[in-house]
Amino acid sequence: MTTATSTAYHYKVVRQFALMTVVWGIVGMGMGVLIAAQLVWPELNFDLPWTSFGRLRPLHTNAVIFAFGGCALFATSYYTVQRTCQTPLFAPGLAAFTFWGWQLVILLAAVTLPLGITTSKEYAELEWPIDLLITVVWVAYAIVFFGTLATRKTKHIYVGNWFFGAFIVTVAILHIVNSLEMPVTFWKSYSLYSGATDAMVQWWYGHNAVGFFLTAGFLGMMYYFVPKQAERPVYSYRLSIVHFWALIAVYIWAGPHHLHYTALPDWAQSLGMVMSLVLLAPSWGGMINGMMTLSGAWHKLRSDPILRFLVVSLAFYGMSTFEGPMM
Ligand code: HEM
Repeated sequence: MTTATSTAYHYKVVRQFALMTVVWGIVGMGMGVLIAAQLVWPELNFDLPWTSFGRLRPLHTNAVIFAFGGCALFATSYYTVQRTCQTPLFAPGLAAFTFWGWQLVILLAAVTLPLGITTSKEYAELEWPIDLLITVVWVAYAIVFFGTLATRKTKHIYVGNWFFGAFIVTVAILHIVNSLEMPVTFWKSYSLYSGATDAMVQWWYGHNAVGFFLTAGFLGMMYYFVPKQAERPVYSYRLSIVHFWALIAVYIWAGPHHLHYTALPDWAQSLGMVMSLVLLAPSWGGMINGMMTLSGAWHKLRSDPILRFLVVSLAFYGMSTFEGPMM
């Protein structure tokens, strides 16, 4: 019988993604420092179009969210899903493809954005050939992740995997729907939507890029690593299930808060505003569950820097998800 200790897990792809998380973190935040400096000293754009603020700003946001954050999510989801399912990755060759495919997407972004090739949709700036590549890589990712879940040796699907799963499915839907566009040349396309509808679809996507890429996926990470590092079980498994369903049900409606006082119909703005207020509850559900997992283990903060970082992350998550509804 295969036990957890004798199962050979696939760690190479996890290491590769982890390494690139560090690399893209340095590059992406370095880009942030450069554009921040340009706001003070505009001459740092060297009077060149390629290094102007307008072109490097989307390079910064794409690099930190999708390259830095994305690699972290690939690494931790591949690590977590194997260990909690006690089974090696399904289709490891496909997992390797997701690594190289994702790096190619990032490189293409790093070339096209400074060249001024952009759809102009925030966080969805990449042009249609790159959108297609993203779709292929993402479908491969879904096959690896859900294939691993399907071949699990455990009866139960650990809650961290629910969050990673929701992140993978929802990001696929958001990306495909928001990127529906009509190509006119190889590097130029026009959105299939127009006017207020285009804005609504864009911010449905944009807000849920935060909600599912930067929240649901990172909560998946939290649900594995906080209990692991604290050596305590999750504070409330029931709370984790309740706030999971509440989070994914409510987040998807909050996009219109990016379009207050615009041509978007009032009812849609009001609905988005109310849903954004409600979102405080499921967001804090995750923060509270993480924090309370430390009850009885607070003394470990004195000696464990990893746990300190995790707690501070939870604290900032709590603060920023308070700030959002208040705004
Ligand atoms: C050294 C660290 C960083 C620096 C110096 C930095 C700097 C900047 C600057 C100057 C802007 C443009 C602000 C403007 O247009 O007025 C910006 C925007 C942004 N950055 Fe960063 N950044 C850093 C790290 C990060 C990280 C780690 C993330 C996310 C993982 C991030 C996400 C964003 C986003 C989403 C925006 C767009 C905000 C908006 O449109 O309201 N940044 N950053």
